Amino acid sequence: MAQSDTAVTAERRQLMDMIFNCWGMQAVGEAARLGIADQLTGGPKSSDELAAATGANPDALYRLLRSCASVGVFTEHEGRRFSMNKLAESLRTDISGSLRDFVIAQLAPAQWLPWNHIHEAVMTGAPITKKALGMEIWDYYAKNAEEGAQFARAMGNVSAMVSADVVRLYDVTPFKKIVDVGGSQGALLRAMVRAAPNARGILLDLPNVIERARPVIAKEGLADRIEPIGGDFFKDVPAGADLYAIKSVLHDWGDEQCETILRNCHRAAPPGGRLLVVDMILPTKPPPSSLASVDLKVLMLLGGRERTEAEMVGLLTRTGWRVERIIPMPELYSIVDAVRV
Ligand SMILES: C[S@@+](CC[C@H](N)C(=O)[O-])C[C@H]1O[C@@H](n2cnc3c(N)ncnc32)[C@H](O)[C@@H]1O
Repeated sequence: MAQSDTAVTAERRQLMDMIFNCWGMQAVGEAARLGIADQLTGGPKSSDELAAATGANPDALYRLLRSCASVGVFTEHEGRRFSMNKLAESLRTDISGSLRDFVIAQLAPAQWLPWNHIHEAVMTGAPITKKALGMEIWDYYAKNAEEGAQFARAMGNVSAMVSADVVRLYDVTPFKKIVDVGGSQGALLRAMVRAAPNARGILLDLPNVIERARPVIAKEGLADRIEPIGGDFFKDVPAGADLYAIKSVLHDWGDEQCETILRNCHRAAPPGGRLLVVDMILPTKPPPSSLASVDLKVLMLLGGRERTEAEMVGLLTRTGWRVERIIPMPELYSIVDAVRV
């Protein structure tokens, strides 16, 4: 074999580094769990100081933080000292726009173990959560309450960022009653009722999720304006709202299930009622965006899919909604504005 056949080329090194960086992201997940970013807000610290503060093994913590730094999260200095950097800032708990819960939840068992079964998902085109977790994911979160709460906070992290843009780009002031369908802890609904002073909100989610949402809504001083309701959007959706909002829910499900949810919203809405879908819209042309990997994950978890603009419009049209416009948002998401026909 010629030497060049086995040489470590830049491309081979790049591919190997991509695998190593997956492990580096697991290190970031653990650093997030340990709250390292909060420890570093006052300035750089040594890994020994951080180990004393977190109870970790000093040598192992140094190696963990070095791995984080290798993927760009935290900066390593001489003498085993570490400081914050721009990526690590997002792991702080005390800032709006924190992604700490998102990072922890996405690397936790419910979202991570299904990747071990990717072969079966790809061979069958069917979700494999039952095999990976022994039950469907929402049942898993109900049973593993701490991880479920972590996931709800993770959705809240992302939704808090996205919701600010939704109410900036879409005028919600005319609405009087807004239902957030599958709204988790109501990050989108809270932003909407704050922006629409005459509106009352109804937060619909699974009963165990709603129980955890109540204190969040009360803490934000919105208990008198948002009514949390435990239910099942496959059965029915609270009636009579002039605006139904549904964020990051349709991508969890296959077309048939989405049509059930959307028909339930249609049945609940008055004539002329509006539906706002906030979701990621898959580009139709290469190069593929990182959304392609989100699409693969939702296939494995629940048989869901990210949709192109045409696929999203098709879903809504088939269920009695007329799409009036699609408003692209600065990052990842779009707002699909539809009216009940
Ligand atoms: C991906 S999360 C999106 C949460 C929220 N809309 C957001 O963007 O932050 C999907 C939500 O759907 C809820 N959900 C799943 N099945 C449901 C059902 N049958 N009825 C009501 N909510 C459900 C989950 O509990 C979860 O909060």
